[in-house]
Amino acid sequence: MRKPVIAGNWKMHMTCAEARAYMEVFLPLIKNTPNDRHLVIAPPFTALSTVAEMSHQTALELSSQNVHWEDHGAFTGEVSPKMLLEHNVRYTIVGHSEPRKYFSESDEQINRRAKSAQLNSLIPIVCVGESNEQRERGEAERVIRRQVEQGLEDLILDRLVVAYEPIWAIGTGKTCESKEANRICNLIRQWVGTPDLIIQYGGSVKPENIDELMNMSDIDGVLVGGASLKPESFARISNYLNA
Ligand code: 13P
Repeated sequence: MRKPVIAGNWKMHMTCAEARAYMEVFLPLIKNTPNDRHLVIAPPFTALSTVAEMSHQTALELSSQNVHWEDHGAFTGEVSPKMLLEHNVRYTIVGHSEPRKYFSESDEQINRRAKSAQLNSLIPIVCVGESNEQRERGEAERVIRRQVEQGLEDLILDRLVVAYEPIWAIGTGKTCESKEANRICNLIRQWVGTPDLIIQYGGSVKPENIDELMNMSDIDGVLVGGASLKPESFARISNYLNA
């Protein structure tokens, strides 16, 4: 039984004061959310402790937006798994297309981050997805398969989430057709060979399309950017309706 994971990725948004104001609106709206789904928010590092403190004893779980593979050391700008555990972080996003693009993150680095997360009892959310050009050239499946094979190498497959985020759908308002997103999620599950693998879809998820996406057979949750920044819209996404 795959329990869906609904995750909001705040990216580089929200000061502590803004996070506090958000949580005051958001938490009452998820009070009666069924526990057949995990609810997760990934704030920037600086707002982790505020969100951790306010969500204590609620259903909301915390994710970080990155993690390093070492416990400590001369790695300016990085954060270790142990530092995250101190803030009750349970998940960590790795391999998002933004660090892949802006900081040239490789599949090998992503795999190291994910492995270290698992060694420290964190659940990595490993993002994969093709660009518009790759899709137009008919390379989408080959690109995603390579990212999956290299990014997931030697990981523990039942302590892991994969997020299929086609780059052309991120922040563009252009959601991938739910049938196509479902087809790719199904392919990823077949390549990995684990029927219980949790696979999310991400890319322009919003209140208007969440119910349709969540009722697809192979989509086990969503990774939400823009629409997770408004408490009302992320609450509606969290409270998606089962058919
Ligand atoms: P949007 O929901 O804004 O398209 O972003 C998706 C995303 O990148 C989540 O990680």
